[in-house]
Amino acid sequence: MPKFYIQTYGCQMNVYESGVVRRVLSDAGFAETTDEQEADVLLMMTCSVRSHAEQRALGRLGTFRALRSERAGTVVGVLGCMAQRFGDVLVTNHRADIVVGPDEYLRLPELIASVQAGTTGLVATRQTGESYDAVMLARGPGVKDSRIPMSGTRPLESSNPGILSFVTVMRGCDNYCTYCIVPHVKGRERSRPLASVLAEAERHAASGVKDITLLGQNVLAYRDGARRFPDLLRAVASALPRVRIRFLTSHPRDLDSSLLEAMQRLSNVCPSLHLPVQSGSNPILERMNRGYTREEYLAKIALCRKVLPEVCLTTDVLVGFPSETEDDFKATLDLIEQVRFDFAYMFRFSFRPGTRAEEFGPKVSEADGGRRLARLIEVQNRITAERNRGMLNREFELLIEGPSPRDSGWLGRTVANKVVVVKGRCAPGDVVRCRVTRINGWTPVAELPAREAATC
Ligand code: SAM
Ligand code: SF4
Ligand code: F3S
Repeated sequence: MPKFYIQTYGCQMNVYESGVVRRVLSDAGFAETTDEQEADVLLMMTCSVRSHAEQRALGRLGTFRALRSERAGTVVGVLGCMAQRFGDVLVTNHRADIVVGPDEYLRLPELIASVQAGTTGLVATRQTGESYDAVMLARGPGVKDSRIPMSGTRPLESSNPGILSFVTVMRGCDNYCTYCIVPHVKGRERSRPLASVLAEAERHAASGVKDITLLGQNVLAYRDGARRFPDLLRAVASALPRVRIRFLTSHPRDLDSSLLEAMQRLSNVCPSLHLPVQSGSNPILERMNRGYTREEYLAKIALCRKVLPEVCLTTDVLVGFPSETEDDFKATLDLIEQVRFDFAYMFRFSFRPGTRAEEFGPKVSEADGGRRLARLIEVQNRITAERNRGMLNREFELLIEGPSPRDSGWLGRTVANKVVVVKGRCAPGDVVRCRVTRINGWTPVAELPAREAATC
């Protein structure tokens, strides 16, 4: 049986889409290997959101090429957002054998066969509006930890796909934030039919998954006829009352009380919201084309906390956007202090060719951008640690995901998406109640009394 190896970079959508690729290739008779040395096909699922993400993947592509030169006949493929953005440059300048954009994964077996038959440099980057609805992902790929951002440069691998999984509910994005490459590489927004999302979530639950995240660049834009995201949430959560249901990402402009009320009523919908703010300054938000003001954002945060008092709020922040002044940056810091997010993914602006912000000026210097990011991280890290300290001596219901990679013990997730290290006897998939007894760095640690190591 021919073997393929796949490495995934980028956001959770890519983790999911690597699952699509796995299914397509296994249906075509390939077996997956985690040893790149023995693979006949080496694939990387890539991200273009920042230049750093691309540089990292290109470096890794060098390793794939070296493996190909040691093992004649190995096929090297670049998939995903970089494939869409660079197209045949990845063949001509980086010597990839196949380059496959986000809408063309169904063609992978055919493209691999062509390369093995002697064709070189195949590029498949049509934007077809594909939603992979016909691909039966029985069990979605899992997540390694809760701090995987919607974008990133770290390789992502699934650690416990049996317990956590993703279901993509929509693909693409129509928002065209002026800094962002996603709409350019992923294409127009399109939603999967509600029945198909529900069927996939039910298959995951039947195979033992206990925590499902519904995914989209803006899930609040979901629509299937007259049905919107709160209807989808109600359908999935009511059909799977014993499964925790989460969702990512919510565009703050589209958040309204109908969503919050649905979350409040459905006991298995987790009280956590990822609401990327990007900036706390109105002129910058306007130039980013975000569609809300600072005041509107803060009013929505107040509404979230009123309807869901225990809600865990996370965000994305972007500093060094062209024309950002010290005062704009101070407004962002001020918003961060005011909201006190549980966690934030913080980025320095990276110019993306083809986006509108490419033409914006004046540019913020590397030094100023770096200094602002460091300051922002310092402030938010303090707040994250303070909020985690607020968990001390409180009891939580934790879903055990697997062994903790850094400490002896287990990783458990609260309903609000906080990760806790659990000491004691338990196993992946257990749901345990225990008290947080200390904070290690900023990680809450809970002790499980021996008699409570029961499963449910
Ligand atoms: N759809 C989500 C939303 O509405 O915010 C975010 C998706 S985006 C892939 C994830 C995050 O990457 C963004 O929230 C933004 O903070 C960051 N990002 C996007 N473009 C960027 C750029 N050009 N430079 C730096 N960070 C960027
Ligand atoms: Fe990018 Fe904006 Fe779409 Fe998010 S909403 S994916 S930041 S264009
Ligand atoms: Fe990156 Fe594409 Fe996701 S650009 S953040 S992998 S949608």
